[in-house]
Amino acid sequence: MRAKRSTLIHLIYFSRLNLAADAPTRAQQIGEITRQAQKKNEFAVITSFLVIEQNFAAQIIEGERVSVNDTFNRINNDTRHRDVQIVEWREIVKREFVNSFATGVRNPVNDAVFQKANLLPMFLRGTPKAVGIHSLAMILQAESMSKQGIDHLFV
Ligand SMILES: Cc1cc2nc3c(=O)[nH]c(=O)nc-3n(C[C@H](O)[C@H](O)[C@H](O)COP(=O)(O)O)c2cc1C
Repeated sequence: MRAKRSTLIHLIYFSRLNLAADAPTRAQQIGEITRQAQKKNEFAVITSFLVIEQNFAAQIIEGERVSVNDTFNRINNDTRHRDVQIVEWREIVKREFVNSFATGVRNPVNDAVFQKANLLPMFLRGTPKAVGIHSLAMILQAESMSKQGIDHLFV
């Protein structure tokens, strides 16, 4: 008999970042998280997308169940953010994110996309919806891919 394929899941959480207020230090801190996460996620065959709006972070982590759980346990213990809350944890049919770790930080260029998603009031109330986080991340990924001339994967 063929062995059962390993279970693919995604986990979506949100948290409050403990990052510096000044832009250069903040960018450096996000860069440091990115370096660590890319390396570890590549090794664990995790794909993920991190959305950052003001001091809120929301991340989607995709991969094999045990790898996602291990990764989330590490992230959950990281003092660079607090109030980490799982929004959704479920089995998925296929991966939707292509990079081991990519970020979408709200800025003047993507402001309209963030505004349309309107997550901030929900972050502030502590009730963001998984579907809202997921669709914003998908749009930010598609825009970033499109800038790199990679449109055909996302039709
Ligand atoms: C907002 C945020 C997102 C993170 N995302 C990841 C991630 O996707 N994968 C990962 O391995 N580490 C991620 N990290 C870093 C981990 O929390 C941890 O520092 C890193 O995995 C190194 O863990 P270790 O020191 O126990 O080896 C993230 C940290 C923060 C603050």
